[in-house]
Amino acid sequence: MKRIDRETIQRVIDTADIVEVVSDFVTLKRSGSSYIGLCPFHNERTPSFSVSKSKGICKCFSCGKGGNTVNFLMELEQLSFQEAIRWLAKKYNIEIKEHEVSEKEREADNLRESLFAMNQFALNHFEHNISDTEEGRNVGYEYFRERGLNDAMIKKFHLGYSLKRDNPLTTQAVEAGYDEKYLLATGLSGKSERDNRLYDKYRERVIYPIFSVSGRVIGFGGRILSKEKASAKYINSPENEIYHKSDSLYGLYQAKQSIVKNNKCYLVEGYMDVISMHQSGIENVVASSGTSLTEGQIRLIHRFTSNVTVIYDSDAAGIKASLRGIDLLLAEGLNVRVLLFPEGEDPDSFAQSHSTSELEQYIAENETDFMLFKTNILMKGKEKDPIGRAGAINDIVRSIATIPDPITRSVYIKECSRIMEMAEKTITLQVNRARNEILENRRKQRDARPDAETDNPSVLADNADQIAPSATAVNASASSNDLAMQCRPYEEELVKYVIRLGATMLCTAYDDDGNEFQMTTAEYVDYALSSDGIVFHNPDLERTFRASVNLITSHFRDDANQFITELEKTRNDEIAEGIAKIRHEMGGDFDMAKIEAKEKEVKTTADKNFEKAYNKFELAYVFNNLGFSDDPIVMKITNDLYADKFELSKYHTKYSAVPTEYDQRVIIIERAIDELKSNFIDQQINDVKRVMMSLQKTDSDYDEKVMKTLNEIKRLTTIKGEFAKQLGERIVLPKSSR
Ligand code: UTP
Ligand code: MN
Repeated sequence: MKRIDRETIQRVIDTADIVEVVSDFVTLKRSGSSYIGLCPFHNERTPSFSVSKSKGICKCFSCGKGGNTVNFLMELEQLSFQEAIRWLAKKYNIEIKEHEVSEKEREADNLRESLFAMNQFALNHFEHNISDTEEGRNVGYEYFRERGLNDAMIKKFHLGYSLKRDNPLTTQAVEAGYDEKYLLATGLSGKSERDNRLYDKYRERVIYPIFSVSGRVIGFGGRILSKEKASAKYINSPENEIYHKSDSLYGLYQAKQSIVKNNKCYLVEGYMDVISMHQSGIENVVASSGTSLTEGQIRLIHRFTSNVTVIYDSDAAGIKASLRGIDLLLAEGLNVRVLLFPEGEDPDSFAQSHSTSELEQYIAENETDFMLFKTNILMKGKEKDPIGRAGAINDIVRSIATIPDPITRSVYIKECSRIMEMAEKTITLQVNRARNEILENRRKQRDARPDAETDNPSVLADNADQIAPSATAVNASASSNDLAMQCRPYEEELVKYVIRLGATMLCTAYDDDGNEFQMTTAEYVDYALSSDGIVFHNPDLERTFRASVNLITSHFRDDANQFITELEKTRNDEIAEGIAKIRHEMGGDFDMAKIEAKEKEVKTTADKNFEKAYNKFELAYVFNNLGFSDDPIVMKITNDLYADKFELSKYHTKYSAVPTEYDQRVIIIERAIDELKSNFIDQQINDVKRVMMSLQKTDSDYDEKVMKTLNEIKRLTTIKGEFAKQLGERIVLPKSSR
């Protein structure tokens, strides 16, 4: 696939109207200066989804989702950036100009495109068979009908059939010009060893096509019809450039909107489970297709929701599989619930033999928290067996320890303590021990890799040695995931202000030659953080922050000068026009004092307009440049954090006496930096304390280690008080704020 030119992207962005785009999905009503409607991202009865035509953004005041036209489409339709641009280009009839990527990339793209085309050809063939051939109707269609599927489901999931004789798919594909190698790479054809001829591999099977998230056919599952046959129950596509089994989920394409809307995903085992549940009206369901769940599949789910309910067969194998899946899901930070169907039933059979409301009721009543599920399973019959009980507790403790978020962990520790009737402290201790083990193992694995990155996620700046924590502290530091979560609110707050105020002038500073210059907010924040060796722990925020600072340092002054030149022209025109008007109005009256007063008024107004326009420019500068960044992460963060403003400014215009964020920027920025720094040091102190807790009295150098960590804590505490002293030497903040 080719990449869309920057120019086209800009045109699309400039053309697309947020109200028009949102209106394709949401019924909007005018409300003052904006539009409102029911939020498409969650279920609601009273509208809280607001669209601002002038700002070009939309936002749900209830769930917080929204953004510009591109964000909106990406989020709602789960498109990539390029896909969203294509969608908009189509809507507005904008011709897409693309550029070629490198030779190598093109080859890879071509191969992938050929495989997609091959699969699409096969899909058409299989669907044609099932509806338009006698054998297809009598065998394939009949099979699905017998299993209780209606026509709508057969169509929605593009179910098909592969004919029994004569290898028609292979023949037709070759006739249509498809190269043999694509038939083989997609696994649609096999090659006979006897005579080297190609044959249809899925013959006499019903076909379940597998789609990518964006709806392209990436592979097929073909189920055998007769039980007597000795061959495999399913034939599945081989791994190739477009099909990676461990990174795909059956049914996700059909389920994604419902997953987002319900903020929840059901995870089942098989093709039929997915389709039967859909037919019963439960559409937020995907299948891992028989393999044990992989990290890739979990991340895929996580893109749409953090809540997963695992539904596996209630036989021993199914339970075992769900237990294995639970820990993996927990480790990826998902909230896990479990649902078992009655013995001997799977989601398919249950959905087929019950009404929709019965199915819904069963789910509502039987879904359990992973913790209860685990305890029930593990404790079954072991109530009076102390060794069995200890083993069960150990198992549960290890599950809790895999959860990355400390707050969630503590919630489960509480629950575990309640269910198992054990002291919370005891469990906490065990969980911490297990967590340290997990982190230790992870670290070992990382170190074993040749390209191991530096282990210390926090202190990277050159001049940071004075606060770099000791090696022991680093080793035991909580996983970077935990740390990132803890730091997120502080980092988000600061990045938010950099986006909103980054281009405004904040203070006077001196360069290395002692020359005075005006420093922008973005530059000041960057300087203040790097002086103390503070870095972000959340990569998405870090990226957005970096992008903002780079934008300001390398482009802002030129852009501002250009804008000012234009503004000056406008002001001069305004003044000239105003003066001409005065002349005209005064006619023959030559009262010089009166004329001068009037002229002065015109000039003052023009100056005020100038100020206003420039301020608007400053405040929107980062957003206007990064809000449509082709880095989707930067774009998303910029929009998320900028959009809040809209709530604020509404308030400000209503009560104009309230000082604006802009007026108070010096205080706001200083406070945000202070809080971030304090938290940063607190985290370092916690790390060191954690090390101290994990020391064993039996260790030979126990006393020495304790002394060392105590000193470390003292040192960090002192630093906390000394922050930013050196800043004062180079930066002069406006007096009023200090
Ligand atoms: P099941 O054996 O439970 O099959 O395997 P099923 O989907 O319920 O099929 P029906 O109900 O008998 O028609 C669950 C999933 O495991 C994968 C398939 O994705 C299947 O949907 N599987 C199973 C294979 O890939 N190959 C096999 O041989 C068996
Ligand atoms: Mn089944």
